[in-house]
Parts: sequence; structure tokens; C-alpha cells
Amino acid sequence: MKKETLRLDVNNMMDAMIGAGYGISADQLNAVAPLAAQAAEDFRRNRGTGMMGWSELPYQDVSEILELAKQIRARFRYFVLLGIGGSALGPIAIQQALNHMRYNELPDEKRNGPKFYVEDNVDPERMKQLFDVIDPAQTCFNVITKSGSTSETMSQYLIVNKLLTERLGDRAAEHIVATTDREKGNLIRLARREGYRTLVIPASVGGRFSELSPVGLLAAAVCGIDIRQLLAGAAYMDELCAGNDLFANPALMAAATQYLAMKNGKTISVMMPYADSLKYMSDWYAQLWGESLGKRYALDGSVVNAGQTPVKALGVTDQHSQVQLYTEGPFDKVVTFLGVDEYREHVDIPDGAAEIPAVNFLCGHSLNELIKAEQFATAYALTSAHRMNCTITLPSVNAFTIGQLLQFFEIQTAYVGSMLGINTFDQPGVEAGKNATYALLGRPGYDEKRAELAAAPKPDERFIL
Ligand code: PA5
Repeated sequence: MKKETLRLDVNNMMDAMIGAGYGISADQLNAVAPLAAQAAEDFRRNRGTGMMGWSELPYQDVSEILELAKQIRARFRYFVLLGIGGSALGPIAIQQALNHMRYNELPDEKRNGPKFYVEDNVDPERMKQLFDVIDPAQTCFNVITKSGSTSETMSQYLIVNKLLTERLGDRAAEHIVATTDREKGNLIRLARREGYRTLVIPASVGGRFSELSPVGLLAAAVCGIDIRQLLAGAAYMDELCAGNDLFANPALMAAATQYLAMKNGKTISVMMPYADSLKYMSDWYAQLWGESLGKRYALDGSVVNAGQTPVKALGVTDQHSQVQLYTEGPFDKVVTFLGVDEYREHVDIPDGAAEIPAVNFLCGHSLNELIKAEQFATAYALTSAHRMNCTITLPSVNAFTIGQLLQFFEIQTAYVGSMLGINTFDQPGVEAGKNATYALLGRPGYDEKRAELAAAPKPDERFIL
């Protein structure tokens, strides 16, 4: 049987479609092909090493995760993930894509697992109100932090641990699963001290590339998602992206065209799914793209200030807010549409306005037709206005195609980073913020940072109104 396969269409990135001088010419594409081929070569040579352990995640053994998920499903009514950034965005995106969109509101017999919450902020109101909708005595908390030191996650952990200990005494540890590095960081120390179940994030897998590690797989399996199919989809995409030829490797073609768009002054990357199920893929992508490519220095030490600002949009909703800007504003954006051939539901638009032709034309069609027509119409409007756009289409949204999509974007990001000559896998800008927080809250070892903050210029009162 033919496998369901993602399709990438970059026609509307090309000047043949959007107008000479606005898009990519055949000559430009030919000229960039050797650089792209080198990126594909680098990827192949380095895969599985350094910080590229994520490339091997599709091939891992998940029996331990599945066994733990089974136990959690049998015992707990709520599953709460405590994490931030790469330790949260993937699980949110996958849950939205692959489970019922009103999952937590479904009656127990229709829900495919415990109610699921991802707490990825330290807003005190949100944290407090979580305890109005869950019962900690019936909850499994999955604390996820690769570094084992992120202030937000560790604060949440301390709050939850205290609450569980007060309520459950010695049994508190049974309610916590720690997902972290095997050796490094403080969470693993606490897990050993308290006797928590632990899952390991491989040292060679960075936060934003970790969705297909235990970071994302445990939550998905607990909520009844077929994680073997997710990995099978990722492995399939890995195969499809094996070559050096732009016209035979979709992630390479996507990387080359986005790279040329950047060189052509497109500083903004808009991700616009036409499916609510894919809404949070944009958040996941925003971190992957923004944090991986937004770099001050190239590997040779020169200052490049590379990157593209990711923007999240949702079709059709944001047609009524952002598309005006995309069509007529500055020529600084490239839009990626995510489309779906077959939605999992079908809704007809019924009759009811026969005497009003301007409404009646909708009758007899379906929401499925309407959303697709609007996606086509928006791409057409952008193309007519000489705006670069491309489309990735999923035949349908399921674990296999979502696995493909994750792997596709990760490989594309690695290729573009390589073409830009930067370190795709570090995040010094994020660390800078984390270090300043540590200093402000008095973490030992951060005296120098504290002094630096104290010496920073004081705000001018005139500018505070
Ligand atoms: O991609 C990254 O490395 C970061 O954005 C992290 O995911 C984020 O800072 C959370 O880090 P940690 O998992 O160590 O708590």
C-alpha cells in the first residue's frame, strides 16, 4: 500500500509564479544547489553525533515508555506536564494534532486517557487555578527539564512536590515522573534522592529537537497516541530526505528556498496552518526556527546576526486580521501554508437562505470545501501580490504524517543552519536570560552576573509615563 506522504509545493517561491525580481530565479536555485548539497552531506556525516542525536530518535526502542504510559493510564485521572520551551511545545502540538480537540472536556468513557495539562508558565494565577481543576491525589506530574535547572520548571516542581508531600506523605514520589538528562543537572539528583521514576533525554538531543524523545513520547502515549506510528512517520521522512538533489529531497528544497528568501530580505517566516489540529505546530516551529537560526555569530566567529522571525497565524481565522498586512505590507515575509487533503470530519453547509443569493451560494457546499477554497484563495492573493509563499500538505492528520512533519522541519532547520554557517544547536541568547534570572533570585555562583545587573544603566524617569 502506498504510504501517506507529505507534499511540498514551492512554486510560489519562484519568480516564474510571483513575478520576475520578486521570487527565486532558476539561476539562483542552481547557484545555491552546491551549498545545499554540502548541507545535506554535513547532516549525513554528523547525524547521531554531537547535538544531532535527534536524527536517530525515529529508530529508538519505546517499550519502556509504553509500559510506563500503560501504568499511568491505569492509575491516574490527570496527567500534568511541567516544562517549558522544548520541554512543552512539542507535547502541546502533538496533543492538539492527534487527539480530540476538546479532549479534556470529553466524558471519561470517550476520552482516550487521563485529562492532560501542560503547564509551561509561572504565572501565579494560572498555577493556582490548575488546582481548581485537578485532584493532586489522582494526578501524575511529569517534570521535564533537560538541563535540570530551568527556574520555571524547578519552581513548579517544588510547588507540586510540597503539595503532594503534605497530602500523600511517603506516597508523593509515586506521583512524579522526572524526564531529564541521565547525569547532569539538579532534577536527576532530586529524582535519585526521592526515588522518582525517570526517563532519560539523550545528552545529544537539545530541547527544541526533543519531541520524539521521552519528552514528547510519554505524554503522547499516556493520551493514547500511537507513538510507534509517530516514529515510523519520522523514519519515513528521514529516508525521503536522504539525498543531495534538491528535486528529490523535500527538506533540502525547502531549506534552499527559505535560505534564498532570507538572502532576498525576507526576515519574517509566517507559519499558517489551515487546520485547528495543526495550530500549535506553529508554536513548536517558532521555537525550532527562531532559536536554532537566530544567531549573532557564524561558526568562523564573524558577526552575522542570522535568523528569521517566526510568526504564527491560523487559517482561516487570521485571514481576517493578518492577511491584509501579508498581501500589501512590506516585502519582508515568506508564508508557509500547512494544508490537509482529507479532514477527519465532514460538515455540510445546509440550506436556509434560498431568497438571498449572496448567502445561498454557500448552501450545498461543506466546511471542508470552504476552508480549502479559502486556503487556495489566500495563496492566490499572495502570489498575485508578488509575495513568496509555499505549501506543505498532509494527506490527512495522523500519527504517521505528523511524525513526518516533525522530522521534515527538524532536518530543514539543520540544513538551513548549515547553509548559514552557524551553530544550529546552541542557544546562548536563552542562556543569557536564564543566567540573569538566577542572579536576580540569588542562585549561588552568579555573583558576577548580579554585580553586572546592579551596574546596568538605570531607567530615565522621563521615559516612564
Ligand atoms: O531548545 C532549548 O534548548 C530551550 O529552549 C529549552 O527547551 C528550554 O529552555 C527549556 O530547557 P530545559 O528543558 O533544560 O528546562
